[in-house]
Amino acid sequence: MKRILSGMQPTYQLHLGNYLGALKNWVDLQNAEPENENLYCVVDMHAITVPNDKLNLEQATREIAAAYIAAGIDPKKSAIFPQSAVGDLHAQLMWLLATMTQIGKLNRMTQFKDKAGKNAEKAGLGLYAYPVLMAADILIYNATHVPVGEDQKQHLELARDIASTFNHRFDKEFFTLPEPMIMGAATRVMSLRDGTQKMSKSAESDMSRINLTDTPEMIADKIKRAKTDPNPLPDTVEGLEGRPEAANLITIYAAMNNQTKEQVIAEFAGKQFSEFKPKLSDLTVEKIAPITARMRELLADVSEIDAILKDGAEKARSVAEPILTEVKDIMGFWRG
Ligand code: AMP
Ligand code: TRP
Repeated sequence: MKRILSGMQPTYQLHLGNYLGALKNWVDLQNAEPENENLYCVVDMHAITVPNDKLNLEQATREIAAAYIAAGIDPKKSAIFPQSAVGDLHAQLMWLLATMTQIGKLNRMTQFKDKAGKNAEKAGLGLYAYPVLMAADILIYNATHVPVGEDQKQHLELARDIASTFNHRFDKEFFTLPEPMIMGAATRVMSLRDGTQKMSKSAESDMSRINLTDTPEMIADKIKRAKTDPNPLPDTVEGLEGRPEAANLITIYAAMNNQTKEQVIAEFAGKQFSEFKPKLSDLTVEKIAPITARMRELLADVSEIDAILKDGAEKARSVAEPILTEVKDIMGFWRG
């Protein structure tokens, strides 16, 4: 049995990168391996690491939970909960772990460098310590597997490193070293405007990404106007080399249709983008529209979501509490 944990930040509308790189894999995993224990967190304490006046944290948390449920995370099979509802435990473990995290390692985190930008001196301690909180999110449940997109690999390596430092320091195999699960064809979905940049919430052009809340017309328009090159589609996967936009669209198609890139290439070899794009757009709408519709229904009356989050938080707490108690015992804190 695996204990799976993952999370997303309630800072924005989810996009196709979040769906294909993470959420869809969570759903597939939940359905393929019913014996696993699944914990899906809305990481609201991470969402506040970058200041944002416009963010309504409560509403954004419900929206992410709605996206999880609408995409197929079943609250009967997976605990869905806000991080802050178990925040006393996550934050406490974070402190304990912070005492065994080398700043030299934090300095190498590329996400911090990207987010802090040129003005790193003004970045908050929370943004810097973000990966330690993420390690605590995982280790507080002693999760065995963490399904994420490729961009989170470095953070997971740090979490493994911190877990192993704890185990060495206290000479006890207490923390499981969590395994990253980087799954599916689309571990890194790229921008529709530039195939060398990651599809992201922060890119200024909305045309660069497909949001889970986009209407079918918007999806079709974004795909129609997606950047391509003048050549027809190649007849081998190797033929995608040096053609980042073509590679990205093929990858999206493959992931969405549960196919390999080879299978998609076999179907579209030699075809023009003018033929491929409408197919990609129909497929995207077919998969995304039901999720969007279900999200709307769920958000129309938040009582169901709130009940699911409350229930999920109770489950999460019941797993985390004894683990934190044991960590404190191992470290030798007074127990009374
Ligand atoms: P974030 O947007 O950083 O909260 O990411 C939530 C999840 O989506 C993480 O597992 C990320 O790795 C994944 N993710 C975000 N952007 C992409 C992308 N462009 N391609 C693939 N996965 C992504
Ligand atoms: N850092 C992750 C992201 O931006 C979100 C996250 C926070 C997370 N805690 C986590 C993912 C624990 C997996 C496990 O995508």
